Amino acid sequence: MKTYLVTGAAGFIGANYIKYILAKHDDIKVVVLDLLTYAGNLGTIAEDIDDERCFFVKGDICDAQLADELFAKFKFEVVVNFAAESHVDRSIENPQLFLQTNILGTQNLLDAARRAWVTGRDEKGYPTWRKGVRFHQVSTDEVYGSLGETGFFTEETPLNPHSPYSASKTSADHIVCAYHDTYHMPVSITRCSNNYGPYQFPEKLIPLIIKNILEGKQLPVYGEGTNIRDWLYVEDHCKAIDMVVTQAKDGSIYNVGGHNERQNIQIVKLTIRTIHDMMEQEPALRNLLKKQEKDAEGNIRIDWINESLITFVKDRLGHDQRYGIDPSKIKEDLGWYPETTFEVGIVKTIRWNLENQAWIKDVTSGDYQKYYEKMYSDRC
Ligand code: NAD
Ligand code: TYD
Repeated sequence: MKTYLVTGAAGFIGANYIKYILAKHDDIKVVVLDLLTYAGNLGTIAEDIDDERCFFVKGDICDAQLADELFAKFKFEVVVNFAAESHVDRSIENPQLFLQTNILGTQNLLDAARRAWVTGRDEKGYPTWRKGVRFHQVSTDEVYGSLGETGFFTEETPLNPHSPYSASKTSADHIVCAYHDTYHMPVSITRCSNNYGPYQFPEKLIPLIIKNILEGKQLPVYGEGTNIRDWLYVEDHCKAIDMVVTQAKDGSIYNVGGHNERQNIQIVKLTIRTIHDMMEQEPALRNLLKKQEKDAEGNIRIDWINESLITFVKDRLGHDQRYGIDPSKIKEDLGWYPETTFEVGIVKTIRWNLENQAWIKDVTSGDYQKYYEKMYSDRC
């Protein structure tokens, strides 16, 4: 049995990751450490926590004492660090929280792992490490900055972040690498493109658009909607992290992405069309709409679910134009490839959102409304 500390697993990708590894490996135990910020929801992983193979601890990755206690109690072999403040728009409003969690939180975990895992020193003075341990940092393609019309991010692309979020993730990557270079700590890093799928908090583009359509609200598209993101279904990201953690060499960095670049406006139009068509084929889904206007035959109307809902709003400050991953290295070294095409993944994601309204209601019951009003009233 290997014991993993997985931080931030009450959030979107971390939750999908623990579900993935618990199902895939019989010989892994997971301890989730999560502060349950607005983005973390215990309900997402409630069915996974059984206090035999999966444990939950509420706490802050910046808390050194807690980290030491957890390492002493559970004797982790692997740390997978998902915990982060993850939304670019929020980082523009409050950069400091991003620096605290994303940089100092990562460094705190690295130090706790160092205290727990170092066994001695070699003849040159470098620490020696317990066998089989690994610190994995979940990073993002946003550390590379923005692309022009051509080219892709490779692992050799210079780091050039623009937003406070991506700058904080870049700093964390540098610190992880520094611990490898300075202490020979066994680390790895994955830098993935934009994820979509079940359990994504509806402040990110795709779930926000779905939620707004159901509520009959306008669909805010920043700038001209021509910015490009490279979308990956979340389970394919989880598979990549699992492969890197279990198979990649210490000190390695891998980009993760599936050559699926789309303009934001295309994503929004596709989401509108898909929801409209699903509701046309399955009229029962129309009960999810807030607007319950009926036509002459008494059917709930859906003719208003069209592109007229789109509203172009003020652009994000420093908005990166294009992200695009070159995934050759992870394909060649580890045989990773994305299993879910975008056409399949987007329909699965929309259906999941439609069928899990209780979850959406739950995660947006706190300050979400205030957030939405503040963020979008400034833009319109
Ligand atoms: P998320 O916002 O959905 O979840 C973040 C989780 O971290 C939440 O459960 C939250 O409660 C927890 N958390 C926040 N601060 C914490 C703290 N101080 N201590 C403990 N827990 C804390 O984020 P996500 O989209 O699941 O992203 C997870 C990771 O993947 C992040 O590191 C992010 O940078 C990276 N990433 C995300 C994407 C994407 O498209 N969402 C793409 C590439 C990389
Ligand atoms: P987002 O989901 O916030 O991810 P990231 O900023 O990490 O790429 O945004 C994806 C793209 O969609 C990004 O170019 C900004 C844009 N966007 C909108 O046009 N409207 C919105 O309401 C949101 C949240 C994002």
